[in-house]
Amino acid sequence: MKKAIYPGSFDPITFGHLDIIQRSSKVFDEVVIGILNNSAKNSLFSVEERLEMTKMLTRQYDNVTVDSFDGLLVDYAKSIDANIIIRGLRAVTDFEYEIQIAQTNKVEYPEIETIFMTTALNYSYLSSTIVREFASYGGDISRFVPEEIIPIIQAKYNA
Ligand code: PNS
Repeated sequence: MKKAIYPGSFDPITFGHLDIIQRSSKVFDEVVIGILNNSAKNSLFSVEERLEMTKMLTRQYDNVTVDSFDGLLVDYAKSIDANIIIRGLRAVTDFEYEIQIAQTNKVEYPEIETIFMTTALNYSYLSSTIVREFASYGGDISRFVPEEIIPIIQAKYNA
């Protein structure tokens, strides 16, 4: 059985992430979305909020589950018995960082395979950072994230 992890910060989850999740769910038997719970990384949303938004938007996939993890990704991968990591590549600028992480993970856990999926062209510009930036200025984020989570994002800036 091919069990894969799709790890990330998902701060917040975007249409770009959802595109990768939908396509991954067709390629792998099981996909675990692993949300990094790292207090050192200043995230806008708590891990509970990120879990809630991600679960809400992926409940239609029978073979996709959502979880959070602390510490090293390879340790988490071992703990859930998964040896495939999925990462999205938007542009060549992502590649340098991603290959370094993938190779480090491979050194730490030789059985791990990182599979890169190219992001859909229409989302190649999109990132959680862009969503936060737009939302912080009251911009329209409906092209970036599903409407269900727009009020949750806007509430962060209207508080
Ligand atoms: O969505 P992001 O922020 O690009 O995701 C990055 C993530 C969570 C995949 C990466 O930071 C990660 O795996 N962090 C856990 C710590 C770790 O294992 N680092 C890689 C080896 S240096």
